[in-house]
Amino acid sequence: MHADGEMNPEEILRLRERYVGPSLSISYREPLDIVRGEGQYLFDEEGRAYLDCVNNVCHVGHCHPRVVEAAARQMALLNTNTRYLHGHLVEYARRLAGTMPGDLEVCFFVCSGSEANELALRLARSATGRRGVIVVEGAYHGNTSGLIEISPYKFDGPGGEGRPAHVRVAPMPDGYRGTYRYGDPGIAARYAAAVADEIAGTRAEGREIAAFFCESMLGCAGQIVLPDGYLDEAYGHVREAGGVCVADEVQVGFGRVGSRFWAFETQGVVPDIVTLGKPIGNGHPIGAVVTTRRVAEAAHTGMEYFNTFGGNPVSSAVALAVLDVIEEEGLQAHSASVGAHLKTNLESLAERHPIVGDVRGLGLFLGIELVREAESLTPATREAAEVVERMKDRGVLLSTDGPFENVIKIKPPLVFSRENADQLAAGLDEVLGEIEPRAKM
Ligand SMILES: Cc1ncc(COP(=O)(O)O)c(C=O)c1O
Repeated sequence: MHADGEMNPEEILRLRERYVGPSLSISYREPLDIVRGEGQYLFDEEGRAYLDCVNNVCHVGHCHPRVVEAAARQMALLNTNTRYLHGHLVEYARRLAGTMPGDLEVCFFVCSGSEANELALRLARSATGRRGVIVVEGAYHGNTSGLIEISPYKFDGPGGEGRPAHVRVAPMPDGYRGTYRYGDPGIAARYAAAVADEIAGTRAEGREIAAFFCESMLGCAGQIVLPDGYLDEAYGHVREAGGVCVADEVQVGFGRVGSRFWAFETQGVVPDIVTLGKPIGNGHPIGAVVTTRRVAEAAHTGMEYFNTFGGNPVSSAVALAVLDVIEEEGLQAHSASVGAHLKTNLESLAERHPIVGDVRGLGLFLGIELVREAESLTPATREAAEVVERMKDRGVLLSTDGPFENVIKIKPPLVFSRENADQLAAGLDEVLGEIEPRAKM
C-alpha cells in the first residue's frame, strides 16, 4: 500500500500523464514513488531505503528536524511579505553577508535559483546600461525566458533556438576533453583568453558586455572543476571591459566544496554578484542575490524590486536554521573529509575499470566521466545510464549529465558518511565490472 494511503505508483503515473505538463521528465526507467526522506536517505512507498547521492538541495539532510521545526514554528506564527519590519530577514541578511568576502554585503531575497540569476542579470544590465552577456559552454542558469537565453545547455539543447545575438559563449574550461587539457601549465590563461575573445567578438558586433556569468564549478556541463586561476584571469578581462562578474553558486555553495564556504573562493576571486538557490533553504524555495553597495546603487533606477514571497519570515527562519546546522554540525569540514575519502575510492576504481576516464570534483561535488576508449574519449553514454539504473536497483541514487550525458554526478546531502561513501564506491565497482564487457564491444 502507498504510505499516504491514497494512490499507487501506476495511478500517480496515469494522473501525471493526464494532468501535468509533458516537458517534465521522470527519473529512472521504472519511476520511483518516494514518500519520505531522512538525512541522506529517501524511502519509497514500500519503505525501501535509497541512499541519495545526488540531492544537493536537501543540503543538511532531508527533513532535518531543526529546519522543519523552524519552518513549522514560524508558519504557525506569521508569514507575510517583506514590507513590514521583521527581525528574521535582517538577521539572515547580516549572517549571509558575514559569510561573503570583500564588499559583498547587499542582499536581495527571491524564491529560486532562476529568480536569483534573473535578478542578477537585471542588476548587471541596470548597473552598466548594457545588454551583452558572456557565458560558458554547457552552462545552465535557470528556467525563465531571460535565462534560457544565457544558458547554452538549453538554447543549444533539445528544443532550443540557438544563441541569441546579445549572448556569446566561451569554451568550457574542461581539462579532460576540452581544447586545453590537464597538465598544460597555461590552461587557465588560455581558457580565460577565450573569454577575452568573446568580449572582442561582442564589440565587433557593436555591443558592450553587461556581465560574465559563470558557475563556480560547472554542474550541468559535467561536474567540472575550473582550472586554478581561471576566474581570476577571466574576471580581469571582464572588468577591463566594464562588465560585472556574476558567480552562480546555486549548485555548489554553502560549504559543499569543503575547503571553502563558497566555491568561487577556491579560485581566489571576489565576484560583483553572487547568486544562491537550492541548498539555501534545504528544500524550502528560497534564493538570494548578494552584491556590493556599488553595484546595488548603480542598478537602482528607481524601479522597485518586490518579490511577494522572497525573504518572508518563514523562508528567513528556514535559511537561518540551515546556516545554524551547517555550523553546528561542522558540515563544511565533514564535506572536505568525506569528499576526499570518496574521491580516493573513486580514483582507485579508475585504475581497475578502463571505462572510468576521469574522476574530478571538490568536497562532495564529484563527477565520474565514462568513456569507451581512452584515446578517442568516445563518451560511454549508454553505459553511464546503465550504471545509474543498476545502482538504483542496489538502492543508490545517482544521475548523469554533461554534453554527452556520460558524467555520473555525485552531490549528496552533506550528512553523507564515510560508510555511505564506501557503499557507493563498492556498488560502482560491482556495476562497472558488470557493464564493462559491453563497453568494449
Ligand atoms: C547552476 C544553476 N543555476 C541556476 C539554476 C536554477 O535554479 P532553480 O531550478 O532553483 O530555479 C540551476 C538549477 O538546476 C542551476 O543548476
